Amino acid sequence: MRRLSSICAMRKQAQAWRDSGLSIALVPTMGALHAGHAALMRRARRLADRVVVSVFVNPIQFGPREDLAQYPRTAKRDAALCRDMGVDAIFFPSVADMYAADHSVFVEETALSRTLCGRTRSGHFRGVCTVVLKLFNIVQPHFAVFGQKDAQQVAVVRRMARDLNCPVRILVVPTVRESDGLALSSRNARLTPAERAVAPALWRALQAARRLCRSKRCSPPAVRKEMEAVLRAYGRTIAIEYIEMAEPRTLRPVQTVGRGTLIALAARIGTVRLIDNVVV
Ligand code: PAJ
Repeated sequence: MRRLSSICAMRKQAQAWRDSGLSIALVPTMGALHAGHAALMRRARRLADRVVVSVFVNPIQFGPREDLAQYPRTAKRDAALCRDMGVDAIFFPSVADMYAADHSVFVEETALSRTLCGRTRSGHFRGVCTVVLKLFNIVQPHFAVFGQKDAQQVAVVRRMARDLNCPVRILVVPTVRESDGLALSSRNARLTPAERAVAPALWRALQAARRLCRSKRCSPPAVRKEMEAVLRAYGRTIAIEYIEMAEPRTLRPVQTVGRGTLIALAARIGTVRLIDNVVV
């Protein structure tokens, strides 16, 4: 496995692979890799001749009051996991290389980014789009693999790739969960044991919603009520940020919840903000 920290070296390596007729799949990450990221790598491995994993904690997608400084950095373990997964190159550029001191160009998606997490995380998806487009330009992958856990990110990145004619196919991998249903996330490590014990409530609430809507179409308020009841049963530690029902590609709110509807949830448990979703 090659470890590349310079943009120039990454570009050259990817170009050499393309010149030899090899296809490339990119898995963009911020490191602190876990089994969810590993599932993306596995998918990438099946898709393409060469797999590149980028590890870059992207400062411009964090808000001023968000956890950039506390974001876990586990470079050695990340490299070991990538090697075990048969990754061909790990790309870990520095912030200074990715963003010139006077960088002034951003990529902004202006519709889907405004709902769900975008309401409380202004500028977040602008940061995501900017870095993902930069990674697409550097690696020029044939495929890019993302996780369903971040359903809004998937919708926004797809929209960007469509609207800016990025020559890349976006693929999505189902959410990987702990045995009790909690979606794997680097942020789970910051939950106290007591908070960790209530965290599966998110998944329980989503499952209850899905059960409700599988047999008959339901109204969004009815689904929300069902989910709130499940979450409340776990006590007052869970502060709901949003429960939304939307069309997965456009993120437009639906009138009735049925097959194919995205049910998305964000909540704070203590200081940790968690998101999860299901598609009915
Ligand atoms: P990060 O949070 O590291 O996630 C990298 C990729 O792993 C994303 O596509 C995310 O959806 C996926 N992922 C995370 N947890 C998962 C789980 N439990 N199951 C399946 N997939 C999971 O998302 C980002 O980084 C950044 O915003 C990035 C796209 C790299 C841009 O900076």
